[in-house]
Amino acid sequence: MQREVREFVATCHLAKGALVTSLTLMDPQALENDARAAVADASSTDDVERIRVEYLGRKSQLKLALREVRDRETGMALNALRERLAAAIDGREGELARAEIDRRLTEERVDVTMPGSPVRRGHLHLITQIRREVEDIFLGLGYTVVDGREVETTRYNFDALNFPDGHPSRSPLQTLFLDDDTVLRTETSPAQIRTMEAQGPPVYIVSLGRVYRRDTPDATHTPTFHQVEGLVVDEGITLADLMGTLDYLLKALFGEARRTEFRTHHFPFTEPSIEAHVSCHMCDGSGCPVCRHSGWIEIGGAGMVDPKLFEFVGYDSDRYTGFAFGWGLERIAVLRHGIPDLRELWRNDPRLLSQF
Ligand code: PHE
Repeated sequence: MQREVREFVATCHLAKGALVTSLTLMDPQALENDARAAVADASSTDDVERIRVEYLGRKSQLKLALREVRDRETGMALNALRERLAAAIDGREGELARAEIDRRLTEERVDVTMPGSPVRRGHLHLITQIRREVEDIFLGLGYTVVDGREVETTRYNFDALNFPDGHPSRSPLQTLFLDDDTVLRTETSPAQIRTMEAQGPPVYIVSLGRVYRRDTPDATHTPTFHQVEGLVVDEGITLADLMGTLDYLLKALFGEARRTEFRTHHFPFTEPSIEAHVSCHMCDGSGCPVCRHSGWIEIGGAGMVDPKLFEFVGYDSDRYTGFAFGWGLERIAVLRHGIPDLRELWRNDPRLLSQF
């Protein structure tokens, strides 16, 4: 009905300019009924907005009529109609807006009690784990953990450790020199000297970190690896103390059932020097590929501190004796976990690392 009226008005406008009043053609009661019906039907605030434009907008029938009205009474009646419609539209709009907010609050509510999607967590590298494990073992024995330097002078890396002139380690073929007097340390042993220079006896320390050698990488060598250095200096320290300590360490690392064995060896800074072996944890000594069918695994060097080192740092070598050891952490890792190639520990393939 309302649309018909409007079309008719439009036709009149087109036909005869603006002279025909829409007022005469508009039935206000029908218009109000139509508008109210449309408002009641509206199901969204967008609908309501469209209805507002249609019934109250600039080109609405009511606006046209108001523009053209000449008598006061009709004007007041149309204004009242406009206000009623505006109120109805506003009311419905408010209702729908509240409903929409309610719906969004329900639909878009985040359930904070729902479990989140799992985040893949990393973990410490196997070498870091072993490093901390060894530190913990010695902290438990009352030792102190000290830091060394990766960049060392030849004085601390060689001279103070009693390396003779011409020793192969002093050659640039074996050691990475930064200049004539500076190297990337080839072992953690310089930490022995630095510790003894910094403090008097008794000394009970371990020092763990990276060392560097000019090696071509293969299954059993990498140019960088980690060592744990141990140093004890006190009155009455004997080889038996060293062997007892290493036996304890090996059992902590490889299992209580392991047996240990010490064979003579040579290092410039220990006298006597020994090499620690542990019964194979894979075959329990009966022979397997890990122990190369010998039943024993070689772990690393140790010995009684050569009194020449005490002279170097000013310790009284008549009163004090000491022991030291220096083992590779990668070696402990590959042996303990049956990793066939040392280089795997530096490739950092998560498929390998995630197993530890
Ligand atoms: N520094 C030796 C090495 O790198 C290990 C070692 C340390 C041996 C302390 C004896 C005493 O092979």
